[in-house]
Amino acid sequence: MHKVQRVSSLRAAVSAARKDKKTIGFVPTMGNLHEGHLELVKIAMRHADFVIVSIYVNPTQFGANEDLGNYPSTPEEDARLLAECGADLLFLPTQETMYPGDLTKQTVVYVPDIGDLYCGVDRPEHFYGVTTIVSRLFNMVQPDIAVFGKKDYQQLTIIKKMVEDLAYSVEVVGVDTIRSDQGLALSSRNGYLNSKQLSKAPKLYEQLNRISDKLASLLEEDTPINKKTFKELESEAKSNLKKLGFDPQYISICSRSDLSPAKKGDVELVVLAAAVLGDTRLIDNLEITL
Ligand code: PAF
Repeated sequence: MHKVQRVSSLRAAVSAARKDKKTIGFVPTMGNLHEGHLELVKIAMRHADFVIVSIYVNPTQFGANEDLGNYPSTPEEDARLLAECGADLLFLPTQETMYPGDLTKQTVVYVPDIGDLYCGVDRPEHFYGVTTIVSRLFNMVQPDIAVFGKKDYQQLTIIKKMVEDLAYSVEVVGVDTIRSDQGLALSSRNGYLNSKQLSKAPKLYEQLNRISDKLASLLEEDTPINKKTFKELESEAKSNLKKLGFDPQYISICSRSDLSPAKKGDVELVVLAAAVLGDTRLIDNLEITL
């Protein structure tokens, strides 16, 4: 696996691959790779002939009081895992490459509406930062397909909208979340949890499954399901999480297509959740088909 830092070297590698009639797959990451990231690389390898992974901890998607300074960085181990997995190229851009100018004068890419909901409420700058950096990376790499995890479901939906609205010629592929045996969604931030919190964290996913089971039994009993049902299930899950020692930020049953609050008649749903445990903010989600 080759490693490059400069955009000119990246472009030379992409041109050479294209000359060999290879399709380009891309997996953007912030490093500290775990099994979940490697699954994205494997899926990219199934869809494309030449797979590029980027590692860049993007400062503009962190709020002022967030963990940018402490964000885990394991570059050597990451490179080893990617080489083992079979990635073709690792792009390691510097801060100077990604944001050469004054950050306050940087053009931003903003996806309205979906970007303002859920995580966008508590982290107002977060999705601007994500869409701006993903847009820059797409223009540098010019991939045929790009792979993102469903763990960050809102991010994935926003990126799909950006690609559609700005007519990027990239197919965005979403990949199912990889979980621990206990059900905890794998995330670099799980490393912040102590052992007691680690054993409690899977309860977040348990609450999402509880919502899914309740909806399934209401369907079976032919009980009408409407906005009131969804609100009640969301409140119950929040109050259960509070009792378990979480500070829930939102539990929202949404329509899968645009993440608007679910309503009567919606069939393809996703429950989105964010809850703080100790000092760590966990997010998770569950797709449900009624
Ligand atoms: O999901 C992530 O790791 C980041 O948000 C991304 C897509 C690499 C952009 O910095």
